Amino acid sequence: MPNRIVVSQLGGPEVLKYQSYNISDNVPDNQVRIKQTSIGLNYIDTYHRSGIYPLAVDLPFCLGLEAAGEIIEIGNSVNDLKIGDRVAYSFSPPLGAYCEIRDFEADKVIKLPDFISNDEAASILLQGMTVEYLFERLYKIKKNEIFLFHAAAGGVGLIASQWAKSNGAKMIGTVSTEDKSDLAKKNGCEYIINYKNSDVYEEVLKITKKKCVNVVYDGVGKDTFEISLKCLNHRGLMVSFGQSSGMIDSVDLHSTFNPKSLYFTRPTLMHYIRNREELNLSSNRLFEKIKNKDITPNIYKKFKLSDASEAHELIQSRKSVGSIILKP
Ligand SMILES: NC(=O)c1ccc[n+]([C@@H]2O[C@H](COP(=O)([O-])OP(=O)(O)OC[C@H]3O[C@@H](n4cnc5c(N)ncnc54)[C@H](OP(=O)(O)O)[C@@H]3O)[C@@H](O)[C@H]2O)c1
Repeated sequence: MPNRIVVSQLGGPEVLKYQSYNISDNVPDNQVRIKQTSIGLNYIDTYHRSGIYPLAVDLPFCLGLEAAGEIIEIGNSVNDLKIGDRVAYSFSPPLGAYCEIRDFEADKVIKLPDFISNDEAASILLQGMTVEYLFERLYKIKKNEIFLFHAAAGGVGLIASQWAKSNGAKMIGTVSTEDKSDLAKKNGCEYIINYKNSDVYEEVLKITKKKCVNVVYDGVGKDTFEISLKCLNHRGLMVSFGQSSGMIDSVDLHSTFNPKSLYFTRPTLMHYIRNREELNLSSNRLFEKIKNKDITPNIYKKFKLSDASEAHELIQSRKSVGSIILKP
């Protein structure tokens, strides 16, 4: 029998349990059966595990939103994929990627090009498509534009550093250590602020010659919300796309956004890959950047799937950089 990671009660990394499960004899008509070789670990998995995001599934459930592998069986009505194809999927419900073998809707899988390995795909698809929609569609960052992005050495952050550089934009990235600072810089982040020992607002004023920025991308949440708003110019855009430091408490609309007529959005990748066309657009733009060597996957660590709880501890410890994958 194959194995998977199951959450039977919400809580810390210790609630992740490695268990065997049955898989049906037949693959549903519109699905493919994938023998997974690589699973992406994303910060959102910790929100689902701990319960800070409302759950769309009942307990117990298998965690995870992203994986890559090889098709080993095919449903009767699937025409455009075949056994042996290397494929991946990312951020399409339902949860359940932390497993060895999985049936998945054929229309939501992406065929992998030769120049991307399964490990690389699982490490970069979700985080890379996130940067695609943040920088290309939600708000188009322009050549020479200076903007602020928090946690620049994280999984999303290192891809953002490279993407910004390849567009000729000048990213101000925040980080918590000198090692992270060096890494973000190597990945193309133009200006780095270590928010453990510098005042982010003062540094942003210096870098922008008191102009502030037109857009802030904030995936840190609670600890950076106020700082982010402070760094925005009048009519600037606050993109709150995550909360690794915790949920932002309730906000007074008037006193928060009116003083500078700010815009606010709380986006999610799922709503930017709502159909095949958007999924192709986003993944192809990412693949193009990888093919052109504008973006190189940064796999920081590979864990055995059975050690998923250790991997969760690591990403929440703030000691990781780049992306983490799990190996079935
Ligand atoms: N909305 C979307 O579509 C979408 C899609 C993908 C990811 N996300 C969000 O993007 C953010 C980054 O995701 P990721 O997978 O790439 O994670 P990550 O950035 O690799 O890890 C989180 C980072 O957040 C920073 N951080 C600041 N305060 C923290 C705290 N109290 N506890 C833990 N970390 C803290 C740390 O960097 P420093 O030590 O440098 O501060 C840490 O390394 C997450 O909030 C995630 O939910 C959103």
